[in-house]
Amino acid sequence: MQALILAGGEGTRLRPLTATVPKPVVPLVDRPFIAFMLDWLRGHGVDDVVISCGFLASGVRNVLGDGSAYGVRLRYVEEPRPLGTGGAIKFAESLLDERVLVLNGDVLTDIDLTDQLAQHERTSAQLTLALIGVDDPSAYGLVRLNDDGSVCAFLEKPSPDQIDTNLVNAGAYVLERSVLDEVPPNRNVSIEREVFPKLVDNGLYGYQSSGYWLDIGTPQRYLQATHDILDGAVKTSVPDGYDGRSIALAPDAKVHGRLVGPAHVGAGVTIARGALVSGRTVLGRNVEIGAGAHIDGAVVLDGAVVGAGTSIIHAVIGPGVQLGAGCRIGEHVMIGEGVVLGAENHLTAGARLFPNVSLPDGAIKF
Ligand code: GDD
Ligand code: MG
Repeated sequence: MQALILAGGEGTRLRPLTATVPKPVVPLVDRPFIAFMLDWLRGHGVDDVVISCGFLASGVRNVLGDGSAYGVRLRYVEEPRPLGTGGAIKFAESLLDERVLVLNGDVLTDIDLTDQLAQHERTSAQLTLALIGVDDPSAYGLVRLNDDGSVCAFLEKPSPDQIDTNLVNAGAYVLERSVLDEVPPNRNVSIEREVFPKLVDNGLYGYQSSGYWLDIGTPQRYLQATHDILDGAVKTSVPDGYDGRSIALAPDAKVHGRLVGPAHVGAGVTIARGALVSGRTVLGRNVEIGAGAHIDGAVVLDGAVVGAGTSIIHAVIGPGVQLGAGCRIGEHVMIGEGVVLGAENHLTAGARLFPNVSLPDGAIKF
């Protein structure tokens, strides 16, 4: 079975994490995000994957290579300029089989693709969308269904008055290549806005799936995905040992403070005396946590150094960041790669610092 992963978006909502690496290879717990997708796909018989890249394409290729480490054949298609979701699929057409699974490159899920494919076959659909129920459909593509599972309306990013169901496009669909005959080449096409609506009453079906599903494309959801993996809430694509209690601790990590599971602690990490690491935290390789620091529900990426007495609560600290002593980093703050922050800086409420910024002691009290 073949799959096409759309991975050419700029990931603007996840900046600065995506300022230096593309969204598909942003580290999630212990691996590049897309590795979770590849595991999931392989589990449903996918052995051939085409990745549609645009932004920072070489970054994806450098991390994933030919796919042998993931047990699939990987090929890359690079758009000269962003062509939108539909334009990107059209651009990859010559590599595609007659039937292909198309996936948005930012969904962490364990949807049963095998069952979805079986329904697609049964209904002789042209395109079968996996659907998932969400509390607020406004950030997604809303789908209205007929009793027989065919789609009667598709509304991308619906306005409040249009919301009459919680079912949305989960970003995983089975596509007959013939659908692309109707897509114009060499121009920007949104499959959601231009193609799905045209297929209504013309072979567009919805597959109501259950299970875990999350679009990781915002800081809140990226942290949520991290916590859910550590909790063992994602069924099929979870690394061994994450069951909601365990601590995945690299053998050479030095823990002199307190470490409360579940947590992931990478190779070469040092947690100094009096520090507390809790609340489903991920510490990447060679991270140093200073004495008396408190890290809770946070992600601290490779090589970051956290000063004494600094607290990081539900925030993301990029690779190689240096935080001085007595800093307070709060809810959904994202600090970009290589930032150097002096002592006693306070950042909260979703503040973002872009890569390589340098701030002196006490520069920000937010
Ligand atoms: N190659 C390529 N070129 N890929 C692109 C482009 C492009 O020009 N634009 C977006 N993508 C990729 C993104 O990298 C992402 O993996 C996927 O297409 C979807 O784009 P997002 O920007 O993440 O869209 P969204 O989250 O607002 O909405 C989409 O996903 C929802 C589910 O998460 C839509 O498909 C909604 O209908 C859906 O509900
Ligand atoms: Mg998205």
